[in-house]
Amino acid sequence: MTVTEEIQQLKKKKHAVILTHYYVPEEVQQVADYIGDSYYLSQVAAKTDAEILVFCGVSFMGESAKILNPAKKVLMPDLSADCAMAHMAEIEAVKKMRETYEDLSVVCYINSTAELKTYSDVCVTSSNAVKIVRNLPNQNIFFIPDGNLGRYVAEQVPQKHVILNPGYCPVHNAMTKADVLAAKAKHPGAPFLVHPECTAEVLEEADYIGSTSGIIEAASKSDKEEFLIGTETGVFYELKKQNPDKTFYPVMEQQVCADMKLVTLDKVLDVLQNESNEVFVSEETRAQALHPLEQMLALAK
Ligand code: 13P
Ligand code: SF4
Repeated sequence: MTVTEEIQQLKKKKHAVILTHYYVPEEVQQVADYIGDSYYLSQVAAKTDAEILVFCGVSFMGESAKILNPAKKVLMPDLSADCAMAHMAEIEAVKKMRETYEDLSVVCYINSTAELKTYSDVCVTSSNAVKIVRNLPNQNIFFIPDGNLGRYVAEQVPQKHVILNPGYCPVHNAMTKADVLAAKAKHPGAPFLVHPECTAEVLEEADYIGSTSGIIEAASKSDKEEFLIGTETGVFYELKKQNPDKTFYPVMEQQVCADMKLVTLDKVLDVLQNESNEVFVSEETRAQALHPLEQMLALAK
């Protein structure tokens, strides 16, 4: 039996489902029951009636799934797969901001630790951040941890006072305007589809800005044949699957999230066999981090 066949068999036997983010390796995406962006995956995690969830992604994703569905066993193929940006905000900064502004909402990108979520009012993902911030009753918004997504949201919702935090995604933040211009010169006329975790100078060059799912949808709907993609190259698998006749180019070579690539098929099989690498969140943290996640699911509808 192949590893994939063993995984399929064990999934059925154990009433397990596999959730994967678009950035994990292609062969792992192929065994998924659900594949999507962070918002979609959190919706699935909140609703599934499977007994075991194997979350193929980085730690904030598994943690959020456990917080939303505590009765389920959440397993992660590699517990060390983490998102660097998830740690890039200080609790002290949040406390200080709450003392400074009476009318404040702490808006926390889902790419954050469970602890940061416990200090927040509402979570957002790249696909719903603008909508949620626009509809919040508060005038002052402290957006953590991603300064790039925060700045993009602030530009879309100028009626709000958005306070930025200096966090960033090392993968998306590394892309420069010079990289984009060089890619455009090589592939003239190819629309540039980009994730809002990129810098302002890169987003200025965009034809479309959105989440991983948004980028895939925009490319699929377009009648163009070639595209420049400004996000992690894991999305190329789904882009090509949905659009076999279109061509996709990365803006630069190193659009790779090393942590997402720690998830392998062998590790998926291993955690399914042994029910190992279970995600635990203390009940105190879970109870407090649940509120902002539930707020997101309600407000994004
Ligand atoms: P999406 O929610 O757009 O899939 O983004 C997740 C992520 O980690 C981007 O770097
Ligand atoms: Fe985190 Fe960036 Fe990797 Fe996304 S690509 S998981 S934001 S480090």
